Amino acid sequence: SSGGTVDAVFSVELEECSRNPQYREVDDGGSAENHVSEDPEEKLDSDAEYTQIQPYAGMPKEVLLLHSSKARYRVTREILFWLMVACTLALVALTVTVIALSPRCMNWWQVSPVYQVYLRSFSDSDGDGVGDLKGIQKQLDHFQYLNIKSVWVGPFYRSPMRDSGYDVEDFRAIDPLFGTMNDFEELLAKMHSVGLKLIMDFIPNHTSDRHRWFNLSRATDPHYKDYYVWSDCDGSSPRPNNWVSVFGRSAWTYDEVRGQCYLHQFLKEQPELNFRNPHVRKEMTDIIHFWLAKGVDGFRMGAVKHLLEAAHLRDEPQVDPNKAPESVVSEWDLYHDYTISQLGLHDLLRDWRAEMEAYSREPGKYRFMVTESYDYEEVDKTMMYYGTSLVKESDFPFNFYLLDLPQNTSGLWVQHLVQLWMDNMPKGQWANWLVGNHDKPRIASSAGQTYIRVINMLLLTLPGTPTTYYGEEIGMENVNVTDSQAQDLAGKYNASASRDPQRSPMQWSGDMNAGFNNKTNVTWLPVHPDYRSINVEVQKKDEGSVLAQYRFLNTLRQSEVPLQRGWFCYVHADAGVFSYLRELDGLDRAFLMVLNFGKESAITDLSPIAELPDQLKVLKSTNQVSDGKALQKSRILTEAGEGLVIQYSTNTRFNPNHPEQCYVSEKTCYLSVVDILYTC
Ligand code: GLC
Ligand code: MG
Repeated sequence: SSGGTVDAVFSVELEECSRNPQYREVDDGGSAENHVSEDPEEKLDSDAEYTQIQPYAGMPKEVLLLHSSKARYRVTREILFWLMVACTLALVALTVTVIALSPRCMNWWQVSPVYQVYLRSFSDSDGDGVGDLKGIQKQLDHFQYLNIKSVWVGPFYRSPMRDSGYDVEDFRAIDPLFGTMNDFEELLAKMHSVGLKLIMDFIPNHTSDRHRWFNLSRATDPHYKDYYVWSDCDGSSPRPNNWVSVFGRSAWTYDEVRGQCYLHQFLKEQPELNFRNPHVRKEMTDIIHFWLAKGVDGFRMGAVKHLLEAAHLRDEPQVDPNKAPESVVSEWDLYHDYTISQLGLHDLLRDWRAEMEAYSREPGKYRFMVTESYDYEEVDKTMMYYGTSLVKESDFPFNFYLLDLPQNTSGLWVQHLVQLWMDNMPKGQWANWLVGNHDKPRIASSAGQTYIRVINMLLLTLPGTPTTYYGEEIGMENVNVTDSQAQDLAGKYNASASRDPQRSPMQWSGDMNAGFNNKTNVTWLPVHPDYRSINVEVQKKDEGSVLAQYRFLNTLRQSEVPLQRGWFCYVHADAGVFSYLRELDGLDRAFLMVLNFGKESAITDLSPIAELPDQLKVLKSTNQVSDGKALQKSRILTEAGEGLVIQYSTNTRFNPNHPEQCYVSEKTCYLSVVDILYTC
């Protein structure tokens, strides 16, 4: 019988296998029934002999095969197999979906404001009257306190300091005034260890006239002779053309060594590099590599619109054609058709960006690029620096339009300036805002102290990255600088063009020299006399201070997704008030800002905005007494210079009904059931 055959095979096999004692017993006892079924499966099933053979260890292959082909095993196996296939596919699909739907992580330069340190004036560690690298290191707590992660440190290259370090003598060395390369490396390491990023100035347009390249160039060294822009001229007028310097007078200076004129769009001590020369381009690229390899996190690329000049050197057209050519001395006298924003400029920047990208690949190592270009009413020119969807350029060009805010403090004007950027910025790009820097009067002076709080509130609640010039967080003002104290050569021909007033030492405390240094009485520019009331130490103790408000809003901005990446929608603007909201689809929590830039108190009626709840509550006012106040949306009272951040809860979003009033960099939605954000 077939049963017998199986038995025989078993005995044979068992001789050779590791033995199963239980099996042995059963086999030896011969108690197994010899019933044989027609169906081999059924036979095995019902066969007591086999049911007792457990566990299967030691079973010969054939027996195992017999078992495993039973329906109950086979079907289970097949179900499990297909289940596994389905699960794998589902997992892959889920992963792909999650990746596809996850909003991009916000980068470090988007999450935090950029804090601009004007090195000479921030903190003086050695008491020589000039701020230095060690001084910054001493003050890192300040950034932590303000919840600031990105710090732009002004130029520290070796320099004769004719233009405050923007005249570079050696792009690979630190000026002894600021410290040593070791100090720099230490500062960078320290900053990185506490999660701070360092952005430095890159100054490609010109060098100092003391730079080695310039000396070789004026000596007509064959390699260096075309490093700068030279043209024939003699010691007296006429100059090669009518071009003028940004700081006034002719942009040409005669060089006795070479017997020719060289071009400078800034000081005569800042000869323009010739970017039509490939060696110059290579030199500057190498310098970028040098600092990226040291670990700097980004560059502020200065004066980039001046990089190239028309090679034909033709006269620029006069704004007033009737003006006598010899009285054409200011940058406002000419249309800069040949010295500014020349063709090829963006190729240079895009090439540098590509070099930076190579260093950006490691996680957490993104290298940031911001460009400086004042294009005034030609906002399209500024927007070019964003690059295209195919070729990357800067992460953002500095937005200088809010510098015009003091011209007309009104809600409509501020809305106009904000809109100028939002309407012209290429889709999907990231906005940015500033109201001051080392080249422009301080906002607290030009707009007035009344508005400093509401201006900071604007910057910290608009979409995009704000830049804060040192001291703006405490409302520092311009300082009066007498003729004998004057430092800035830009004010040489016209004292009102001097940038000294906005460069006075940082006001840390009520101590000597406002705590800027404590070893001497000397500071390179005078400390502002208001330092006893306007300083960090005093304001830290005062919950209603400019500083406390800055800190609160910056922390709020970083913890609230609607403020970080949500929609920005215009709600209202009039002579006094500018109002907008920030919301995120799927999230009930939203923020309404009501900012009074006017000269009088105002009552704003937002009852036409159906998406807003009738009852509102002030989360933060620039007037501390109004914090927590309950409001009717039909009667929102603000004093002149008062700003309100109102947090509210709603389940109807404003943006779907008013798309023309709203803007978002990248659409993100919130899914409350699983508490995640996704791209929508
Ligand atoms: C940059 C700086 C400015 C300097 C100019 C010329 O624009 O911001 O301070 O004077 O370059 O170097
Ligand atoms: Mg140039």
